[in-house]
Amino acid sequence: MERIIQQTDYDALSSKICALQFNYLPPNKGTLSESIDDTLQCLYSDIKSLHFEYYKTLKEKSRNVYGKINKLMRNPFPVMNYGTYLRTLAIDVSLIKYIENFPKDQPFQIVNLGSGSDLRFIQYLKMYGGRIKRFVDLDFKDAIILKQSILKDSTNLDQSIRSFEGKYVILQGDLKDVEGTLQQLKQYLDPKLPTVFITECVLCYMTENDSKQLISTIMDTFATGFWISYDPIGGADVNDKFGTIMKRNLMDSRNLEMPTLLIYNSKLNYPQRWENEKSQIDIKDMWNFLSEAISDTEKRRLRSLQFLDEIEELKIMQSHYVILNTAWD
Ligand SMILES: C[S@@+](CC[C@H](N)C(=O)[O-])C[C@H]1O[C@@H](n2cnc3c(N)ncnc32)[C@H](O)[C@@H]1O
Repeated sequence: MERIIQQTDYDALSSKICALQFNYLPPNKGTLSESIDDTLQCLYSDIKSLHFEYYKTLKEKSRNVYGKINKLMRNPFPVMNYGTYLRTLAIDVSLIKYIENFPKDQPFQIVNLGSGSDLRFIQYLKMYGGRIKRFVDLDFKDAIILKQSILKDSTNLDQSIRSFEGKYVILQGDLKDVEGTLQQLKQYLDPKLPTVFITECVLCYMTENDSKQLISTIMDTFATGFWISYDPIGGADVNDKFGTIMKRNLMDSRNLEMPTLLIYNSKLNYPQRWENEKSQIDIKDMWNFLSEAISDTEKRRLRSLQFLDEIEELKIMQSHYVILNTAWD
């Protein structure tokens, strides 16, 4: 099962490369009405070159994985590209808003749990390097070995990492082993500093108990923190078949299990993993995010990229993906 779960990283990477190739990402200036729009532009200034460089090096490293990703990219559905655009943007908006609230001299740490091939660490360390004490990526051993070797073999990416002077740490581990994960994190992180934890499409592969234990242990250990989590939800309405169909399709096509898709199935139920008196929770689905946060000009730009005949399909799909933000201290 570990190998099957780990391979979902190739879906995430191929979706991102595809959204970049079709110009969904980066978002245009004026995407958000909020003041962080300029910061976003800066964050995304070299997102394309970073990812294309990673992808190019991946080709030389592992023909097998490159082939898998290429195959996934051959049939790019607009709804998928929208999904990647919204997911990427929603996470960055949450992260930037949290960071921008701090005084300018406040150091902080970021941890990407189940980071896979995600390259946010480069974007954030370039932009906030002076203030980030550590940026940690953690994933299963095989995912990390491949990522490390790609980063090392790409001259540009390797040079970036060297310029971060030890602030970037990449760890192999299994999040189900909560004690082991915590011991590793404590080696590199200061539990007294504000720390952001990101789980992007990761908790959905963990059982209810494992993910709850991971969250409560981290929240008990780090004095001040912010959790950003993104996942699909199965739907709570009796007539809503999204979760049942998704679960069945994943099992039939890949033998892949999403143990909590039908448990944390709604905006009401998804936050239950975090619920304790210390934290306040904000949750929205990606359809809310598209409708409310994205400017009309940007929506027009998105519509011009590919022909999308089924707005209703997009709405159903994006209503079943949520982003949760919770801060504690
Ligand atoms: C769908 S991918 C998402 C990757 C990345 N977060 C992103 O969104 O681009 C899920 C990732 O979670 C990792 N993952 C899932 N369960 C894990 C666990 N128990 N321990 C470590 N990594 C895990 C997988 O290996 C995979 O890289």
